[in-house]
Amino acid sequence: MNNKQRPIGVFDSGVGGLTNVRALMERLPMENIVYFGDTARVPYGVKSRSTIESFTAQIVDFLLQNDVKALVIACNTIAAVAGQKVRTMAGNMPVLDVITAGAEAALNTTQTNYIGVIATSTTVNSNAYARAIHSCNADTRVQSQAAPLLVPLVEEGWLDHEVTRLTVREYLKPLLAEDIDTLVLGCTHYPLLKPLIRREAPGIALVDSAITTAEATARALAEADLLNTDNPAPDYRFYVSDIPLRFRTIGERFLGRSMEQIEMVSLG
Ligand code: DGL
Repeated sequence: MNNKQRPIGVFDSGVGGLTNVRALMERLPMENIVYFGDTARVPYGVKSRSTIESFTAQIVDFLLQNDVKALVIACNTIAAVAGQKVRTMAGNMPVLDVITAGAEAALNTTQTNYIGVIATSTTVNSNAYARAIHSCNADTRVQSQAAPLLVPLVEEGWLDHEVTRLTVREYLKPLLAEDIDTLVLGCTHYPLLKPLIRREAPGIALVDSAITTAEATARALAEADLLNTDNPAPDYRFYVSDIPLRFRTIGERFLGRSMEQIEMVSLG
């Protein structure tokens, strides 16, 4: 297998990262993809940095053994607290992550220089989005809000449910009280709530980091001369650490298509 044919490794704490796989399949339809979701140990969004770092190291080891040519950190929480660890393990290999791509997209979108972020508690506490945004533009104001209840609501499929609407409204209240004009959906699950969030935050631009990360991946692969341009029937492999009840249903909701090869592997 030549370098271009090697798969892109995408990983997440669970099923949510399939939103990134979906965006990659659309943006880079010739690429082979290996996905790992740590479904046995999800959620990461409430766990400590050291636990997330050690789980992440196991996932990256697994993907490197699968001969990936690039790594995409689809999980905001992993990117927030273990991004550096992943880059150290990956050496020269391109590593893309949802926070870097989301921060860049938010900066390109805002007119008022005031950006809101919703994410898991661990991501918000790490301040990773604000740091990524400020490293490009120190004058931008960033206000973050943890929105942990949205993860189980999305997994329940309550994408247009009254309970979800009220929860979103409550979380957005402090952000909408300010002059933000851009809202980063800083968690794998939130892009599925885009229509509902759009109604609750009219006039505010939403940044979906799955799409911007796929764009950044395309750029990085082109720069490294690793783009696969001759692969009309790409191979998609999905690995998880547990196959819980309703996994396929939930996974296919995130992916927007059926999942053929799902395999279970235990790490650690
Ligand atoms: N994938 C996580 C994220 O994007 C959400 C789920 C979790 O808490 O593990 O932050």
